[in-house]
Amino acid sequence: MQEDIDTIAANIADWTQANAEHTDASAEKAWAHPGILWGVFAIPEEQVGALPESVDGLDVVELGCGTAYFGSWLQRRGARVTGVDPTPAQLATARRMMAKTGIEFPLVEAPGEAVPLPDAAYDLAVSEYGASLWADPYRWIPEAARLLRAGGLLVFLVNSTLVYLCAPDGEGVVGQELQREQFGMYRIQWDGAIGVEYHLAHGDWIELLHENGLEVEALHELRPQPGAVDPAYYDFVTVEWAEKWPAEEIWVARRA
Ligand SMILES: C[S@@+](CC[C@H](N)C(=O)[O-])C[C@H]1O[C@@H](n2cnc3c(N)ncnc32)[C@H](O)[C@@H]1O
Repeated sequence: MQEDIDTIAANIADWTQANAEHTDASAEKAWAHPGILWGVFAIPEEQVGALPESVDGLDVVELGCGTAYFGSWLQRRGARVTGVDPTPAQLATARRMMAKTGIEFPLVEAPGEAVPLPDAAYDLAVSEYGASLWADPYRWIPEAARLLRAGGLLVFLVNSTLVYLCAPDGEGVVGQELQREQFGMYRIQWDGAIGVEYHLAHGDWIELLHENGLEVEALHELRPQPGAVDPAYYDFVTVEWAEKWPAEEIWVARRA
């Protein structure tokens, strides 16, 4: 990919388009869901156990909150959520949903790489394919660590390393053959994409988290439930594939 690209601007442009094409229209259904779901196969949190058993009374920051449905699920459970996202269109949808549902919390327009919020102010930092996929990990992980109180938890969802390695360059679903190298994996602009994604290998995630005072407590490799169907919109992977190999993973790390 072009090395001098302004990745933050590219990702805002990408998500402005995604908002017009899909996320604004799908926000209502996502906000209305009573449970907390993870990933493209909508796996219930009760089956995964990535979040604290109760979020009631916790100060939570969501990095790359998008239309803020994930934050709304936590707010409904008694958390005090602040959503952070750099794309104005996504935040406009979040505000529209807040007005409609009466579930209100602060929203801040900023990228995960530079968050204008105070140090050590949060018990939980979450990212559900937000900063975790679209911000530079060498910049957003230090920000997450800075925002967390001692003992606070960072929980984030990303594509698995194997998905990254086996994904085709352009259209199509993840296959069974390695398509690229693992050593050096970091950022990628898929063929025809506006935005730039970030993917790290497991060793690099562990090292980066550790360097920022975050100790890994769990790596949940998500497996679709029996009866799961192929994703309708984020259709990069099939159930058949994801029943054999982890397509998505949730990292849980605690601030020392
Ligand atoms: C898949 S959506 C996140 C979905 C979100 N969990 C929700 O509840 O709607 C990805 C989001 O990442 C945001 N994003 C793009 N670049 C980013 C960056 N540098 N830092 C943080 N978030 C970013 C996009 O604006 C978009 O809203």
